[in-house]
Amino acid sequence: MQTIRIQLTTLADSEKLGRLLGNLAGPGDVMCLDGDLGAGKTTLAQAIARGLEVPDTCYVTSPSFAILHEYEGRIPMYHMDFYRLQDATEVEDLGFEEYFYLHGVTVIEWSSRAMDILPHDRLVVEIAVNDNLTRTATLHGTKSYAEMLQHISREFPC
Ligand SMILES: Nc1ncnc2c1ncn2[C@@H]1O[C@H](COP(=O)(O)OP(=O)(O)OP(=O)(O)O)[C@@H](O)[C@H]1O
Ligand SMILES: [Mg+2]
Repeated sequence: MQTIRIQLTTLADSEKLGRLLGNLAGPGDVMCLDGDLGAGKTTLAQAIARGLEVPDTCYVTSPSFAILHEYEGRIPMYHMDFYRLQDATEVEDLGFEEYFYLHGVTVIEWSSRAMDILPHDRLVVEIAVNDNLTRTATLHGTKSYAEMLQHISREFPC
């Protein structure tokens, strides 16, 4: 497990991070976005979609009611939001686990609501809001995300 921490001083930094994640993503990747209400998870998911070449005409919104939205990009993006779920069994009942093993990229907001069913191999992005409203993102990933994390830390020097 590797961890990096980066500062997202402006909205543009969050967009840059998301685009990079989308550019660097490969088939079967699972990206978990966590953080309080309003931390910037959907903002990041929207930028990941752009990095995956989901067309600009395709408006990416939080799927909190639908729970899952699917977008066509360079590879598909499965955008999930677990905010309204009570626990992991609901994710199982909905059959969402299958998506983790398809060839698209799964992006999950509020993944911590269903920690038990997440695949071991995953990237977690935790966004914290600082007192001055800038964001700090902590990214941890298993071995297969090591190169991605190295690339990102080079793009966000301290
Ligand atoms: N790095 C940043 N700097 C400043 N503002 C930001 C940054 N990232 C996101 N924001 C702003 O924070 C607000 C909330 O963002 P967003 O909707 O993405 O949060 P969220 O984590 O998805 O919230 P929720 O849990 O309610 O769905 C938006 O107005 C967005 O523009
Ligand atoms: Mg959201």
